[in-house]
Amino acid sequence: MKRVLIKNIGILQTPVGSYSHGGSLQGENLKLRDAAIFAVDGIIEEITSEGKLPLGSEKADEVIDAGGALVTPGLVDGHTHMVFGGYRQHEIPMKIKGATYLDILRAGGGILDTVRKTREASEEDLVSKTEGFLDEMMSWGVTTCEAKSGYGLDFDNEIKLLKVIKTLNEKHAMDVAATFMGPHAVPDEYKGRGDAFIEMICEKMLPYIKDNNLAEFADIFTEDSVFDYDQSKRYLECAKELGFKLKIHADEIKAIGGSKLAGEMGAVSAEHLISINEEGLKSMAKGGTTAMCLPATSFYLGVDFAPARKMVEMGIPVAAASDFNPGSCPSMNLQFVMNLACIKYRLLPEEVLTAVTVNPACAIGMGEKVGTLEVGKQADMVIWNAPDMEMLCYRFGSNMAKAVIKKGKIV
Ligand code: NIG
Ligand code: FE
Repeated sequence: MKRVLIKNIGILQTPVGSYSHGGSLQGENLKLRDAAIFAVDGIIEEITSEGKLPLGSEKADEVIDAGGALVTPGLVDGHTHMVFGGYRQHEIPMKIKGATYLDILRAGGGILDTVRKTREASEEDLVSKTEGFLDEMMSWGVTTCEAKSGYGLDFDNEIKLLKVIKTLNEKHAMDVAATFMGPHAVPDEYKGRGDAFIEMICEKMLPYIKDNNLAEFADIFTEDSVFDYDQSKRYLECAKELGFKLKIHADEIKAIGGSKLAGEMGAVSAEHLISINEEGLKSMAKGGTTAMCLPATSFYLGVDFAPARKMVEMGIPVAAASDFNPGSCPSMNLQFVMNLACIKYRLLPEEVLTAVTVNPACAIGMGEKVGTLEVGKQADMVIWNAPDMEMLCYRFGSNMAKAVIKKGKIV
């Protein structure tokens, strides 16, 4: 048995509950002053405030002094594509000279370029590369994340990526939720035959992944020149039938019905949503779908920001994630995402905290265990080099995490 006391917390700030927080709940945080947390074997046993210490804390095996700082739940990055071969820095001059994201993809580059490099990489190489990313993410305060496949695009390579995610979830301190994203692009061998590619995925890949418990979620890139509304619907129906929970990359560049479909099909989340229209917003609000907004991608692509403020007003739970990937967002810095969520989305600091903790935790099926600091949940938290959340939304570019604690251990 390992007993840990985290004491001298100036402000302990956390959302409460194991459900997605929409509307006015988005901004509801519990704030305790002079708080302490007592954890036994990585699980929170008691939280106190006003200088009181938890019962039995004098017997703690380890005492961590927060030095009067702000403590929040460990951050949750609900959307990443972190398993990939190579990088795509060669796209930088192409972009500066005017090529758009879809121009590069249509010319056989972009995602397809990463697919070629990922197919060449061994499972072991991908495990060690991705392990380095997980270490870096943790240093920014992230203690739970999601990872999507989607750079294999054939049976063997997609399974290879899902196995990498499974291995890392078991071996790394980070909790990693797996999403299958076979329909991320149409691979060269199916060029012009998107329907046939979707059928192959429905017949061969999805059942195998389900039988072998390799992913809990199924995602698709519903986008102009990638997968259209009908192809997306067909894929999501197959996935739903097999028991996958649904996610959609929707309205990133053009609104072709992705967010509308997400609401109609009861998807857990729709992601990106830069170009979402009124019909999509209404459908998501009705379907109880979380908006997984990715402001660092808007920043990097130099495009608009999703209407997250409006989503909150409409009662749609908003999450903010990194989208870490080699093309549209080569950064995993969730603290920068928090700055952007405040400055560009116009979310208040309390709403931002909900967007990077409990809402993404629920959207990746981890809401019962992580995303808030409450008795019975994992002792995952960040001690910040900051007295309050306002400071975290205000300072940008520096790493403000002083100590990152996963299941009661400093990592
Ligand atoms: O979420 N939009 C589709 N997928 C990723 C980008 C993948 C890539 O460019 O490699 C995204 O932005
Ligand atoms: Fe993405």
